[in-house]
Amino acid sequence: MQTNLKDKRVLVTGGSSGIGRAMAKVLLERGAKVVITGRRAALVDEAVAELASISPEVWGVAADVRTPEGRARTLAGALEALGGLDVLVNNAGGVRAGRLEATSEEEITAMIEVDLLAPILLTRAALPHLRASGAATVVNITSGIALVGAPFYATYAAAKAGLALFGEALRRELAGEGVHVLTAYPTGTDTPMMRSNRAGPDLGFAREDVDEVAASFVDGIETGAIAVVRGGEARLAMVALNRENPAAVDERLAALKPRLEEAVRDHAAL
Ligand SMILES: NC(=O)c1ccc[n+]([C@@H]2O[C@H](COP(=O)([O-])OP(=O)(O)OC[C@H]3O[C@@H](n4cnc5c(N)ncnc54)[C@H](OP(=O)(O)O)[C@@H]3O)[C@@H](O)[C@H]2O)c1
Repeated sequence: MQTNLKDKRVLVTGGSSGIGRAMAKVLLERGAKVVITGRRAALVDEAVAELASISPEVWGVAADVRTPEGRARTLAGALEALGGLDVLVNNAGGVRAGRLEATSEEEITAMIEVDLLAPILLTRAALPHLRASGAATVVNITSGIALVGAPFYATYAAAKAGLALFGEALRRELAGEGVHVLTAYPTGTDTPMMRSNRAGPDLGFAREDVDEVAASFVDGIETGAIAVVRGGEARLAMVALNRENPAAVDERLAALKPRLEEAVRDHAAL
């Protein structure tokens, strides 16, 4: 299924920063109408002002997708600005790295809520509107960690893997009903979320350019892709190895463990 983005009505949660903001830029360049969201109203306003130089068809909603009220406001704001919905990008996300015992119950709950529960509930609420579109796409921004679990990211990995499987099951549930589901797997990407992560490419955290990453996800919407996995051949080889011989991946990661633990100790963006 090919999608022409001209005049398509798109909601990007977490579109005030990073990958979501870069996706909004590409979407506007390709003729879509876009609503972006985030909790910090000033950042939403600043992003809308910048994006408006590409196209005036951009609006912002300041709301927290972790709360029922915030999700309701997000969807209502998008529908009011756009008059309907063709594409929902579940991009808002958060992370707290570290050992499970060093992660608080509040942090664990926050990750499950923003990375898994909010996308499921927002998709459920948006579905009648997406069905009315006749040719809609849900994009779930998961993570490469959903394909290869990394130490010190156990809860984040669980939430992102849950979101990936949610998308796969829903795509099959909605087959032939005019709503497609695309699962996007960013690897390390140069965004504000990664500022507190000191791990480099030697530890498996290369930083891809955010505009390239965003363009590949928007390409995925246009081409009707099922999945877009970032990280190139090296990432695909790691995913294959993890499937065929997970003990070999255990061994590789065990060798990196002390350095990795130190480098991701302060990685937090919740
Ligand atoms: N960057 C990477 O290396 C990487 C790798 C794999 C996956 N990802 C995933 O890619 C997505 C985008 O990440 P990013 O790197 O672009 O992060 P980012 O620059 O920190 O942007 C995150 C966006 O989500 C919003 N957000 C966070 N919590 C929210 C909430 N509860 N309600 C509404 N909005 C919320 C943020 O705005 P406020 O803080 O103002 O709410 C911001 O707009 C996330 O799902 C992330 O898990 C990123």
